[in-house]
Amino acid sequence: MKRNLPQLKRTSNHNFETESALALAEMIRASLEKHARISVALSGGSTPLPIYKLIGAMGLDWHRIDFFLVDERCVPSHSPDSNFGNIAKVLFNAIDAAAYPMVQEELSFEQCAVQYEQLIKEKVRMSKGFPCFDIVVLGMGLDGHTASLFPGSPALSNATDWVVLNPVQTQATDRITMTFPLLENAEKLVLLIKGEPKRRLLEDAHKLDLPISKLLAKLELILN
Ligand code: 6PG
Repeated sequence: MKRNLPQLKRTSNHNFETESALALAEMIRASLEKHARISVALSGGSTPLPIYKLIGAMGLDWHRIDFFLVDERCVPSHSPDSNFGNIAKVLFNAIDAAAYPMVQEELSFEQCAVQYEQLIKEKVRMSKGFPCFDIVVLGMGLDGHTASLFPGSPALSNATDWVVLNPVQTQATDRITMTFPLLENAEKLVLLIKGEPKRRLLEDAHKLDLPISKLLAKLELILN
């Protein structure tokens, strides 16, 4: 890895999930030593699920943690595409932490985004005018998207809202996502990526204008 990527943690191929889970658990413990209650925002996708499952068995002070989602598909929680549903299966259902879904089925998806901002306002401490999550866990796609901030999508340029409904042409769908101001304001921003193609893309990201490029200087990386 070249410049712009501080705090790079390389894990050996066969230990990526275990070492990532241990590092994330350590980050959570350190945050719990600093604050009576902490807020952690998790991304969906497939890479982090086995890591979340491992963390769920690590006996952390779950009752002092508020879990949020970084982004969500516009589907009900029981859908196989639901980030909240998939993370609940491997983590939330196994621990006694508060965990807040982005999608409320009785609301429109626009209202879900507004409601989530209200919830964040209530639960997450503020710093520099924006909510400050203790830990935010991100993934990245091979198009350089992170959260549901996809190339060419309108949410990329939103500098005021915290959570928005983002039409994603490349996916022919809408997503609910946290915006850059929120992600950039996190105490710890962790990117979990797996595999050579994503590693190569990340190495070049500082030369490219990708969504992930905006967060490089802030990232603490755990790669395999
Ligand atoms: C989502 C995620 C998204 C994910 C990347 C990588 O809703 O899919 O939040 O940003 O982190 O798409 O996904 P994989 O880990 O499945 O490659």
